[in-house]
Amino acid sequence: MRRAVDCAGRWHHRIEMKTLEVRCSDNPYRMLIGAGALEMVADELIRLGFSGTVVVVTDETVAGLFGACLEEYLRRGGLLPQLEVISPGEAQKNLETASALYSRLNDLGAERSTPMLALGGGVIGDLTGFVAATYFRGLPLVHVPTTLVAQVDSSIGGKVAVNHGRLKNNIGSFYQPASVVADTASLLHLPEREYRNGLAEVIKSAMIRDAQFFGYLESNIERVVARDSETLEYVVAVTAGIKATVVEEDEKDMGLRNILNFGHTVGHGIETASAFSIAHGEAVAIGMVAATRIASSMQIMSASCCERLKTLLQRAGLPVAVPLHVDRDDVVDAMMHDKKRVKGRLRFILPVSIGEVQIRDDVPAEQVYQTLEALYAGT
Ligand SMILES: NC(=O)c1ccc[n+]([C@@H]2O[C@H](COP(=O)([O-])OP(=O)(O)OC[C@H]3O[C@@H](n4cnc5c(N)ncnc54)[C@H](O)[C@@H]3O)[C@@H](O)[C@H]2O)c1
Ligand SMILES: [Zn+2]
Repeated sequence: MRRAVDCAGRWHHRIEMKTLEVRCSDNPYRMLIGAGALEMVADELIRLGFSGTVVVVTDETVAGLFGACLEEYLRRGGLLPQLEVISPGEAQKNLETASALYSRLNDLGAERSTPMLALGGGVIGDLTGFVAATYFRGLPLVHVPTTLVAQVDSSIGGKVAVNHGRLKNNIGSFYQPASVVADTASLLHLPEREYRNGLAEVIKSAMIRDAQFFGYLESNIERVVARDSETLEYVVAVTAGIKATVVEEDEKDMGLRNILNFGHTVGHGIETASAFSIAHGEAVAIGMVAATRIASSMQIMSASCCERLKTLLQRAGLPVAVPLHVDRDDVVDAMMHDKKRVKGRLRFILPVSIGEVQIRDDVPAEQVYQTLEALYAGT
């Protein structure tokens, strides 16, 4: 059954959830995934032992869609929701907004046991997580991600941060949530471009870890693009599961977690060189094609795998060539200034086959130039 989030008249539905266990060392938690999961948030908070005030941080767009609904669910569960609504967008992910939220927590008389709930995309998740991690040295945190990016990526793994100066995510910490509740029906409201951004991370996850899932995406991409309810639940659950297993093996980002950056080396360069007119997911899509071409040129991977990736990305509505207005030297320059460089060398995640990647620090600069050149033509 396909339904968008809507609290009116939905009480009688029995909701079946997918549950994913995330086994982080000091704080294992579970993720509930399914259409209608928003209705489960109060039960989940009560199961975790919370009562009284719940500080819900969200943005104006998300508040308009689900704020009243979530408040109603929480009240019915006997909790006292306190909504804190900020403007939408990356510009809010900073210390000033964090400081305003600290002030609100002071005003509300928040205690160490007062849970914070992040209702929104990755911006809200990262910011709320940062505030929760630092206020009283840690308030309980529950993520209720409402974008595809947040459901498959940012709500899992415990990275919380704000931006400072010209850098992104440079002030932050690792802070695991107590729970994640992902209502896949909320994704029906997402603008097309935001949804496609998330699909880039979905395809990335299949490429790095799960050939069978890649095959599933090839067979079902129309249903994925159409946001069919059951397909969405499955796609979010599998992708979140891939991230969870990678994070479980490398919680503090010391090695393996690097593979999640497949497509991001060139991707970040393109994003920055385009002055962010190319969205993150779009840039990652192009970056994945670049990394795959490099792998093929270095004879690490076969050219036919390149074609499969490119075709899937195109069918998902993602770009596979660098737009002409983005200057190649700017891309390389941005890559050279990336914080993820290791001892002055660019780190690439290169596919060996579909579903398996290698971390490589030995890609010749000339190879990167040539690949970028070819990618303008989209060949
Ligand atoms: N912590 C991590 O591991 C991690 C991983 C990936 C990304 N991130 C961070 O996540 C952020 C990007 O997240 P994002 O892509 O979710 O963007 P976002 O949080 O900016 O959300 C995108 C837009 O969608 C709107 N929105 C949210 N849910 C909606 C819905 N259901 N329907 C309609 N509109 C909705 C928001 O108001 C916003 O305008 C970046 O700051 C990035 O650094 C963090
Ligand atoms: Zn990404």
